[in-house]
Amino acid sequence: MSTVVCPGSFDPVTRGHLDIITRASRMFERVIALVIINVSKTPAFSYEERVAMLRKAVSHLKNVEVDSYHGLLADYVRDCGAIAICKGLRAMSDFEYEFQMALTNKKLVPEADTVFLTTRAENMYLSSSLVKQVAAFGGDISGFVPPEVLKDIRQRLCPGKERDQG
Ligand code: PNS
Repeated sequence: MSTVVCPGSFDPVTRGHLDIITRASRMFERVIALVIINVSKTPAFSYEERVAMLRKAVSHLKNVEVDSYHGLLADYVRDCGAIAICKGLRAMSDFEYEFQMALTNKKLVPEADTVFLTTRAENMYLSSSLVKQVAAFGGDISGFVPPEVLKDIRQRLCPGKERDQG
């Protein structure tokens, strides 16, 4: 069975993430959406919250599982027997960093390849940081995140406004 890992901070999951996971689920038999540490970011949501939101967002995708890991991505990929790591590329500005990570992971786990899916044009600008910023100031994030997690994000980041926007 071909397994792919879609790793990320998912802090929180966005429509952009969901699009990449959905497309990966059509290409591989088994997809693991993995909440994993990014040492250069301080997350707003706990591991448990991020996993719970991701689970809600992908619940309709039958070959997608959600997991979390506190170590190196390469170790997780080797242990679960994945043949690939799948990431989304939004713009050329993502490329250098992603290319460096792909080469490092290839060195650490030669049996797996990194595949990049080009982000849909409508998600080019989208990021978890942008979602958090808009939500924190009470802006409408409904176009940015899967509907299943909208309430969770609003409740956590902008509790007062949650009631107003329904
Ligand atoms: O959603 P992000 O934060 O852009 O995803 C980056 C992430 C979490 C996939 C990356 O930081 C990662 O792989 N972290 C796990 C730790 C690790 O393996 N670091 C070495 C990467 S070559």
